[in-house]
Amino acid sequence: MPKHTMRAVRIHEHGGPEVLRDEEVAMPVPGPGEVLVRVHAVGVNPPDWYLRDGMSNLPPETRPKFSLPVIPGTDLSGVVEAVAADVDGLAVGDEVFGLLRFPSFDGATYAEYVAAPASDLARKPAGIDHVHAAGAPMAGLTAWQFLIDVGHDHPSPFQEARHRPTTLDADTTVLVNGAAGGVGHLALQLAKWKGARVIAVASGAHESFLSELGADRFIDYTKSRPEELVHDVDLVLDTVGGPGSSRFLRTLKRGGALFPVFFGEFDEEETTRLGVTVSGAQVRSNGAQLTELGRLLDAGTVRVAIDSTFTLADARAAHERAARGHIRGKIVLTVA
Ligand SMILES: NC(=O)c1ccc[n+]([C@@H]2O[C@H](COP(=O)([O-])OP(=O)(O)OC[C@H]3O[C@@H](n4cnc5c(N)ncnc54)[C@H](OP(=O)(O)O)[C@@H]3O)[C@@H](O)[C@H]2O)c1
Repeated sequence: MPKHTMRAVRIHEHGGPEVLRDEEVAMPVPGPGEVLVRVHAVGVNPPDWYLRDGMSNLPPETRPKFSLPVIPGTDLSGVVEAVAADVDGLAVGDEVFGLLRFPSFDGATYAEYVAAPASDLARKPAGIDHVHAAGAPMAGLTAWQFLIDVGHDHPSPFQEARHRPTTLDADTTVLVNGAAGGVGHLALQLAKWKGARVIAVASGAHESFLSELGADRFIDYTKSRPEELVHDVDLVLDTVGGPGSSRFLRTLKRGGALFPVFFGEFDEEETTRLGVTVSGAQVRSNGAQLTELGRLLDAGTVRVAIDSTFTLADARAAHERAARGHIRGKIVLTVA
């Protein structure tokens, strides 16, 4: 008999981790261009808690309105259970992973089943399990679209010009701020894959982790100010951002670039005087790019580190873990 209901985590009102409710809900039905995926693991990302708390990090007048209740989540790894008639290239039983419908905030992956656009999915690398695959999509595509290939024409909401990655090779030095986090640890590995020298900035507990991933130099931001120690860098990828982010401009050589993954505050006069550029992008779903990243994951060239796992029903504990900060790699939900 076909299943009509499933377990999912929903929010009925915005708030803290306690608003995440494990419930019985209707099964999704895949529309044109979609497949039904039986979810095995869900990657947890900052937009999950931005949606949960109603975007409290934005000024009230600019906060988008979400219709509630809503199932949060963007990242998944799982197995195709059904395929819409117009979908080619995916079949029942295929293992897939993906970042769904981002930045629309309706990925709805905190669930046992998800209707997923086939174009947002890639085949899960056979060499890694669902937990590691689920940790890759948003963080990995962010690193990819900032550093390797944007892959879309949508400008960032915070700048008019289209973001363009710079060349990364053996002559390039890249500083990654927030290097231990989801985006940071994958960006570090992509820069190493391209041959660049990487300076990793994180809190002290992550030093050996980041050295093992290939960091050439480590700076503990709780003890030293990177902008006082580092000069002549080609590229800064800053996953932390915020009001203090312009201090990293001083680490760049003339012609260098700063890529704010989380938006910061920059003065055009200062960037012009220093002869540097600031350029950001908004990550977008992209199954084709995920296929390319999947090859690197399969080969072990890039690996996803797992900070912690929680069951889907315990999503609240996963968000409480995230709120404590100092994330190393990815938090992932497992689905029985
Ligand atoms: N533009 C886009 O499309 C896009 C896409 C994805 C993510 N984002 C944004 O990028 C940010 C990072 O995302 P994520 O998934 O990587 O987050 P994450 O997994 O939570 O990682 C954040 C990391 O930053 C480190 N950190 C915190 N304060 C720091 C500081 N002052 N200096 C250096 N490191 C610090 C944390 O560990 P330690 O403090 O222990 O070092 C942690 O490892 C989020 O704000 C997210 O919203 C933007």
